[in-house]
Amino acid sequence: MFGFDGMSVPIVGAPMAGGTSTPELTAAVSAAGGLGMYGAAYLTGDRLAAVIAEIRALTDAPFGINLFVPEKTEFDAAAFADYRARLLPLADRLGVDLPQTVEYSDDHFDEKIDALIDARVDVASFTFGCPSPTIVERLHRAGIAVSGTVTDVAEARLARDAGVDSVCAQGYSAGGHRATFSIAGEDPRIDTADLTARIRDAVDLPVIAAGGVRSRDDVRTLLAAGAQAVQVGTLLLRCPEAGTRRAHRDALVDPRFVETITTRAYSGRLARGLVNTFISEHSDAAPAIYPQVNTLTGGIRRAAADDPEVINLWAGAGFRAAQAIPAADVVASLAP
Ligand SMILES: Cc1cc2nc3c(=O)[nH]c(=O)nc-3n(C[C@H](O)[C@H](O)[C@H](O)COP(=O)(O)O)c2cc1C
Repeated sequence: MFGFDGMSVPIVGAPMAGGTSTPELTAAVSAAGGLGMYGAAYLTGDRLAAVIAEIRALTDAPFGINLFVPEKTEFDAAAFADYRARLLPLADRLGVDLPQTVEYSDDHFDEKIDALIDARVDVASFTFGCPSPTIVERLHRAGIAVSGTVTDVAEARLARDAGVDSVCAQGYSAGGHRATFSIAGEDPRIDTADLTARIRDAVDLPVIAAGGVRSRDDVRTLLAAGAQAVQVGTLLLRCPEAGTRRAHRDALVDPRFVETITTRAYSGRLARGLVNTFISEHSDAAPAIYPQVNTLTGGIRRAAADDPEVINLWAGAGFRAAQAIPAADVVASLAP
C-alpha cells in the first residue's frame, strides 16, 4: 500500500495548515488526477472530522490529511520572555495583549489520529517528526497509507523504521515550515533533487519530492532523480480555491518582495517565507521554542492580517511562478 498509486498525474497538492488548505483546494487537486492533501494542524479532532466530510462531499477521489507530530521540549522561560519583550512595541502599536506565558499543546494529536481512523482516509501524512510504530500500525489496520516528511537521509531511515509506506523528501527551497524532526535541530539544507536521489539510494520506499517546483521541467527533473510523485505548495497559493489571505497572495507578485529565507521569527520553528520587515527585524533573536512562540505571535498576526510587512508570507524559492489560476490548471500544467 503506497497511497499515491491511484493518481493519473504524479502531482501532490501540499498540505498547508493555518488557513491555506481548504476542502475546495484539496478536492480540486484530487479531482484533477493528482492527490490533494489537507493540512490539519491547529484543528481539533471534531473539526478535522467535519473537514473530511466536506472534502468527501466535493469529490469521490482519494485525498490525504497531514498532521504535525508533537515534540515536547523543555520550555526556556527566559528566552521566551526576552522574545516577548522584543515584540511588545509592535504588539502595543497594534493594540494586542501578548500572553505572559503559553502552555505547551500537542495540537490535539491523539484525537486527530482517532478522527483519521474513524473516517478511514486514504493517506495520513506527517511532518515535524515521525509517528510511533504503534500509531502507524493503527492507521494501517484502518487501511490508511502513511507518509512521513523528511529533510535528510537519517530522518528517512527513522520514518522507514516506524513503518511508513512512503517518504516526502522536503528540500531546502520548500515553502512553509521545515519538516525537521527536532525543533532546535540544524537544517540539513539539501536541494530537493539531491535529497530525492540520496533517499532513493538509502531507503527502499517510494519518494514524493517537495520544494521549489516552478514548472513541468522541474517535475521531470525530480522524477528523473527517482521521485514517484512531486508535491507542490507555493504554486497553489494563488489558486482561487486556496484560503491564502489577500495580503499574502498580493505579496507573491509584489516587486517589493524579492527573496525567501528560513526563519524562526513567527513560530519558533524554521519556516521559509518572503523576507519582510518582521523577518528582518526578529529572525536573529527568535528562540527555538515551539509551539509557544507560534501562539505568542498569533495575536500580532491576526491584528495585522492585511499588512504584508508583519504577517508570515510562507513561500518557497519558486514563488514567482505561482499563478492566479484554478488548481486543476496548475496540476495540468505540471503533468510530465
Ligand atoms: C503556506 C504553506 C503552508 C504549509 N503547511 C504545511 C503543513 O501544514 N504541513 C506540511 O507537511 N507541509 C506544509 N507546507 C510545506 C509543503 O508541504 C511543501 O513541503 C512545500 O510547499 C513544497 O515546496 P514549495 O512550496 O516550494 O512547492 C506548507 C507550505 C506552505 C507554502
